[in-house]
Amino acid sequence: MTYGLIVRPILKFLDSENAHALSLKLGSKLSSTFPGQKMLSSLYNTPSLPIDAFGLRFRHPLGLAAGMDKKCEALSLWPSIGFSWIEGGGITYHPQGGNPKPRMFRSDSDRALVNRMGFNNPGAVETRRKLLETKEKGSWPRTPLALNIGCSKIAMSDNKPEEDYIATLHQLWDFGDMFVINVSSPNTVGLRKLGESNKLDRLLSSINEFRSNRDDTRPVLFKISPDALDDEIEMMVDIAVNNGIDGFVAVNTTTARPRPTSTRSRRAFSESGGLSGRPLRARSLEIIRLVYKKVGKNHPIVGVGGIDGPQSAWDAITSGATLIQLYSALVFNGPAVVKKTIRGLKRRLQQEGIVNIQDAVGIFSDNNR
Ligand SMILES: Cc1cc2nc3c(=O)[nH]c(=O)nc-3n(C[C@H](O)[C@H](O)[C@H](O)COP(=O)(O)O)c2cc1C
Repeated sequence: MTYGLIVRPILKFLDSENAHALSLKLGSKLSSTFPGQKMLSSLYNTPSLPIDAFGLRFRHPLGLAAGMDKKCEALSLWPSIGFSWIEGGGITYHPQGGNPKPRMFRSDSDRALVNRMGFNNPGAVETRRKLLETKEKGSWPRTPLALNIGCSKIAMSDNKPEEDYIATLHQLWDFGDMFVINVSSPNTVGLRKLGESNKLDRLLSSINEFRSNRDDTRPVLFKISPDALDDEIEMMVDIAVNNGIDGFVAVNTTTARPRPTSTRSRRAFSESGGLSGRPLRARSLEIIRLVYKKVGKNHPIVGVGGIDGPQSAWDAITSGATLIQLYSALVFNGPAVVKKTIRGLKRRLQQEGIVNIQDAVGIFSDNNR
């Protein structure tokens, strides 16, 4: 209510990226004080709907998708608006400014964003320092934290991507409850080529070796591009499973464009970059179903792409996603989308006569084999 009537109209007059930075700053400040946290928690009070995945317990399935908190600077904010887990980053080893601005565009009529941020982030060493500081200040979130790992632009041109990923993991390993290997962002030239079989095998086997040397069972997930063909995805899933990957995130943003429904959409869609939000939903569901058909529940899937309420969350879960995430809906619907989604999921389970959300995972796919 407050968000739709007051905050969103104000943010609409700001350029998308400035609006984002401002919201993060204000939210982070508010959530770092006890009264602020209390106020946010009572505004965005989200019921629990516990689910287990990757050896961890989640208060409910819905987490914050990668890219919203690239610097891991607002970790206390996300749980106080209801998210049950956070994916911080994408983080690269080297600090990067990203692409020139403007690089984020919105289409309200299509509920879609186009971005070409280009892994703007302070780099792994500074992120480690920030995470350590957050821990020492006692403001570490009480929810699982996943870290999204990308590749520095310079390592792409030096042809040393594995070294870059490993150097980042080395800095951040002690801080993440899970890690997401990202070769699927469309905004770093050559990154998606790391999904080709030889390159992917080399990358994921060096990550697996890194983990074995650490004698640690921390889960490592692989994030899928919606623009890969189905047989390419099946090939990537095979390579990932052979190299010890624990689960999959489906999906990243797309370079495809739907038909725009307004002039503003036409303008946003004509920009280069990755599209997210409602138009991504159908392809995301297809890929969740494809991956679930291959790996079942042995390698849990995180469903992401156009989730903005109970129905889209239900569709992702029943297609095979154990956990879900959103980004764009937070921009268009505001923070209340989290509690509305979980309340709606709870109601849906009751209607279907399912006691435990875990039992809803994949039921659509299982019934349509
Ligand atoms: C501005 C922006 C930046 C993003 N940055 C990253 C990133 O660094 N790493 C990544 O794996 N995904 C990134 N994503 C993709 C999201 O994590 C998510 O996969 C995608 O937006 C689809 O979800 P949605 O439809 O709920 O937005 C970004 C998305 C947006 C809109």
